[in-house]
Amino acid sequence: MLKHLLGSKPEFRCSFFLFILPAVRGAAVFVIALLLVASFITSCGDEGRGEESVPDMVTFTEHIAPVLYKNCTQCHRPGGSAHFSLLTYEDARKYGAANAYVARNRIMPPWPADPHYTEFLYQRVLSEHDIAVLQKWVDGGMPQGADNKMPALPDYPKGSEIGTPDMRIPVKPVTLAANSPDRFLLVKVPFELPQDTFASLIEFMPGGSNVVHHVNGDMVKYVYEKKNNVFGGEYVVDMVADTATLVEAFNRLDLPNDDGSWPVLRKSVVNYLPGVFGQRYPEGIGGYHLPRKGVFLLNDMHYGFTQKNEITDSSYINIFFSPIPPDRPVMEFQLGTLGRVPVEPDLVIAANTVKTVYSRYKTEEDISILTVNPHMHLLGKSFRGYALKPDGDTIRLISIPRWDFNWQYFYTFPHMVKIPAGSTIVAEGVYDNTNKNLNNPFSPPREVSDRKGSMKATDEMFQFIISYLPYRDGDEHISLSTGKD
Ligand code: HEC
Repeated sequence: MLKHLLGSKPEFRCSFFLFILPAVRGAAVFVIALLLVASFITSCGDEGRGEESVPDMVTFTEHIAPVLYKNCTQCHRPGGSAHFSLLTYEDARKYGAANAYVARNRIMPPWPADPHYTEFLYQRVLSEHDIAVLQKWVDGGMPQGADNKMPALPDYPKGSEIGTPDMRIPVKPVTLAANSPDRFLLVKVPFELPQDTFASLIEFMPGGSNVVHHVNGDMVKYVYEKKNNVFGGEYVVDMVADTATLVEAFNRLDLPNDDGSWPVLRKSVVNYLPGVFGQRYPEGIGGYHLPRKGVFLLNDMHYGFTQKNEITDSSYINIFFSPIPPDRPVMEFQLGTLGRVPVEPDLVIAANTVKTVYSRYKTEEDISILTVNPHMHLLGKSFRGYALKPDGDTIRLISIPRWDFNWQYFYTFPHMVKIPAGSTIVAEGVYDNTNKNLNNPFSPPREVSDRKGSMKATDEMFQFIISYLPYRDGDEHISLSTGKD
């Protein structure tokens, strides 16, 4: 393995990333140790250490704790989404060298989007100075420093990242056997309310066992009379183990109306990724109509592999009601697989090839974009999204130079981005179906395609999901920050 890594191109060595495939992941801890050694031998990551501005003596309390608390401990804390904490001196010391390594190579904090292309809210990107400080601390023997320099421990809310929810709906607990591989489940979370109402926010909270990797959830909205019992049917379909098509799966979950017709599906109502919780917008923007009877449909609920012990995950959904209807409900469309416009050329990636695909959508009205979410699976290599205005100018949306299957954020712009009518939104994706792609699920590589919207991680997808509002004068000046960043 070491020989393989050292034998590859330097660019690859620097951009090595870990947390994708179960098989790769199993070896990750071992590999990271090897790479720590390797990084001394190679010049990888020397760029811009910014040594000058770094203090002569770097200590935990004065310099390291502030960096970790700002950039890392939201996930690396007891009950957080990562499996180890970085809160105390002892914790930080134990992972000191690994932290400096992942920081230098920009593996952590996870932020695949290129901050030089476009900036987003809640962006977690270390400065060159922070990176240099982490390294210098290790080089200096990791001293603790004076007690009185220690910053206060960050205060992390429990039960919700946002506030006190009005209602909590448990997700049916899922038990994962010891040593179970990654699983992709379709999970039904039904609810019934006294009346139709409104919500400002719907938040997914993982069960604290740090096995929930990501969730993308829609809402099925029933017309009251058309569905007698929303609690019937199965609650969980395993999209990999069961060879169900989506329609079969929806039937098993008993989603159709009683007369067999399909209810309305409102996309992307509840999303979760480690470190990223519900998206709250400034007043007047966003919010939902909640039907009296409905189902949250957690698509693609991704559980990571488990280790020695069986784990039961009891996640839940928090609802924050709103007394008023949404003034400007956020809308969404997508380019690519199952979207408004197809993937071109077809998403069929022959074995041992690198292939670039596009999807292009021409806007018919002026819109204001709030978030973008690029989506690909394990063969993804890079992604770019932009809009070409009728006058020929380019509006940058997002660039992901190193695709990372595990970190597929909904990226929120600091201010809404106006796309004038008649612009062409372009999504451009590159897929690597060679054996150089460490995440390739097949060895030797095999032809992989989208198989008409199969959601299996070993099939491919190409989507660019955009949330937007019809444009109103002045939108581009409205800050989307709610003060959390
Ligand atoms: C958004 C959540 C998040 C943030 C922020 C984050 N990490 Fe991580 N980190 C993870 C997850 C998840 C893993 C994968 C290992 C796991 O499953 O726990 C990980 C893994 C690591 C590893 C590799 C450990 C191993 O198992 O090989 C190191 C080292 C690390 N993080 C350091 C940091 C540092 C330093 C920062 C801040 C500069 C940081 N992380 C910020 C979530 C995060």
